[in-house]
This record gives sequence, C-alpha cells and structure tokens, in this order.
Amino acid sequence: MSDFKIAPSILSADFARLGAEVDAVLEAGADIVHFDVMDNHYVPNLTIGPMVCKALRNYGITAPIDVHLMVKPVDRLIGDFIEAGATYITFHPEASEHIDRSLQMIKDAGCLSGLVFNPATPLHHLEYVLDKVDMVLLMSVNPGFGGQSFIPGTLNKLKEARKMIAQSGRDIRLEVDGGVGIANIAEIAAAGADTFVAGSAIFNTSDYAATIQAMRAELAK
Ligand code: DX5
Ligand code: ZN
Repeated sequence: MSDFKIAPSILSADFARLGAEVDAVLEAGADIVHFDVMDNHYVPNLTIGPMVCKALRNYGITAPIDVHLMVKPVDRLIGDFIEAGATYITFHPEASEHIDRSLQMIKDAGCLSGLVFNPATPLHHLEYVLDKVDMVLLMSVNPGFGGQSFIPGTLNKLKEARKMIAQSGRDIRLEVDGGVGIANIAEIAAAGADTFVAGSAIFNTSDYAATIQAMRAELAK
C-alpha cells in the first residue's frame, strides 16, 4: 500500500499561533489536519470546537480537516462541524444514541464519515454500517490526552479492521491515533493502517519537515 497519509494532531500545537502552526505542518508535508474535539464529559479534557475549525477555514486552510469528536452527545456538534467546513467527521459509537443516524447526517451533508474505536471497544459496531463509513479510526491510547504510549494490542486490532475493510470492497481509510511516531510507524503500517495521526511526535520537534520526512522514510521501507 503506498497511499499513506500523515495527519498531525493539532492538540499538541501552540494554540496561541494555531494558523501558523497548521500552515507549518502542511508546508512540512502533512496531508490532513487532525482536529481533536474534547468536551470534559465523554473524555476528561476540554479543547476546541467548531468556531476554531471555521477560523482555520477563514484563515485559508484548504487541506482536509479530520474532526475527531470525543463528545457526548454527538449529533448537534455534527451539524456545527458540517457548517464549520470539516472534511471528515468521526465519532465514538458509545457516544451516539443512534449510530446509523449520526453517520447518515454526516453523509447527507457531503462530508466523509467515520467511527472511532477506543482500545477496549470491539469492532462489531461496524458490522451493519460499513457501507456508510469512509474511515475507521482505531485509538491506540485511551482518548483525552496527547503524549501517551502506544498500546501494542492495537496492532492485532488493525489487522482485524483491515480484513473487514477488504471484505467490504469499499474505499475506507484505516487511521490510527495515539503514541504514533518515527520509531513505530512502520510496524503500524505493516498491521494495516494507512493514515497516521501524530501529535507530540511532530509538534514537540523543532523541524516538522524533518520529522514528517523521517516518518515517510520509515513507511517506504
Ligand atoms: C487523544 C487524541 C489524539 C492525540 C494524539 O485523545 O485523539 O489525537 O492528540 O497525540 P499523540 O500523537 O501525542 O499521542
Ligand atoms: Zn484524535
């Protein structure tokens, strides 16, 4: 597989300079902007909402914005993020009362949809909605904070998800989020991931381009 995408998580960016930080990672070779939305209810942290997504669009960011909703309930924010210019909108199945309805809302608006699985959440929620999903996101840490360590059991889960996607015959991205960096990106790709969220591994370095190039070099091995 050669269509690998790198999605820096702006959770680890300098929020006081967010527009410039997003410009910098895109100029450094990133493909997708990963946008973590936390509500201090579904997860124990509070971050940014649709106004900030809209502000990035108004600032001139045209790259895909991958909105990862760690909120409960999800539906009202789906509408707000559609308006705010999201490209992907993904949510956790445990946080939606009606998973199919939430996915359909995203699809009806012309956005790309996805389900996110916490480390201990089984993949069975995908079974009846694979035809409505453009992305499967596997959390490789418990959601809420950047800078945590990759949970190794995610590798087997990625293989399982990759099989389900292959069986569906659909073009569905398989994204992994949490503890991804230069040292482990190759084995994560070997397990089936094609889209890599990395927050601290990129933003905590001084040369974003060098870091992203090093990740791509690992992916090319
Ligand atoms: C965690 C977030 C991640 C996080 C990743 O809840 O969903 O996107 O920012 O951060 P790193 O790459 O530092 O583990
Ligand atoms: Zn995320």
